[in-house]
Amino acid sequence: MKRIKKNWIVPKGRRLTEMDKRVLAIQDEGHLVPSRDLIRTRKQIEGIRESGKINTGVLDYVAERIKEGMSTADIDKLVYNYTTDHDAIPAPLGYEGFPKSVCTSINEEVCHGIPSNDIILEEGDIINVDVSTIYKGYYSDASRMFIIGKTTPEKERLVRVAKECLDLGAEAAKPYGFVGDIAAAVTKHAHDNGFTVVRDFCGHGVGLEFHEDPEVDHYGEAGTGMLLVPGMTFTIEPMINMGDWRVFIDAANDWTAVTEDELPSAQWEHTYLMTDDGLEILTY
Ligand code: MF3
Ligand code: CO
Repeated sequence: MKRIKKNWIVPKGRRLTEMDKRVLAIQDEGHLVPSRDLIRTRKQIEGIRESGKINTGVLDYVAERIKEGMSTADIDKLVYNYTTDHDAIPAPLGYEGFPKSVCTSINEEVCHGIPSNDIILEEGDIINVDVSTIYKGYYSDASRMFIIGKTTPEKERLVRVAKECLDLGAEAAKPYGFVGDIAAAVTKHAHDNGFTVVRDFCGHGVGLEFHEDPEVDHYGEAGTGMLLVPGMTFTIEPMINMGDWRVFIDAANDWTAVTEDELPSAQWEHTYLMTDDGLEILTY
């Protein structure tokens, strides 16, 4: 027997809205749909938007200062200081034991790099700075790549294609489409360019908590995964590898993911709101 997970539950005695009818019909076809509480209220959206503005401020602040010779611990200080000066909290700090305020992942590091005084930025490095902010209880999450000085044409292309993967993934996300539509667009663009998509980490619902439903895979097929409904807020954050898609976790800290073949990886991330006409970026 095929079990169908019923997520969309309308309280007894409540009149069905147009959205309820539409989602219930899709759920009855056997698709995975969000629970109703993943549809944000206007007040929640405003809160997440405000959080996103601070998160963008942090990334802009880092962008103006990041340079060769700096340690990743220096980046951590910039993030901590800017965030707390704006009455916000860096979401990574203490999250499941993460020791710092930001993730800094260089070259073959895929994600969850831990800032350190011993890691010094060098000419030619590519680095992902992944910033997540809590403001008045609302969460936002975004990351960018930075190129330190001049790098190789191939690393430059990886950084550019990874950004295109994010933008094409976001464009593919339509109201009443599926999470897998994002994955299909990301996967196609990565493969068309001779790169691969990391499968072990995904985007995620964000807003009232750091990580919630839906699971936003970047590798996969259109029409699969959870239904996308206006009012949902989530990240897209594809990690694109120059070589093989496989990764391992560095045993030295139990956090940092590194490419199996130690070839470079690049990642960009935004927090998005699904609207009636497609995605809106909340971390611009
Ligand atoms: N910012 C990462 C994300 O995009 C999560 C980092 S988890 C942490 O989901 F603990 F390292 F902060
Ligand atoms: Co994220």
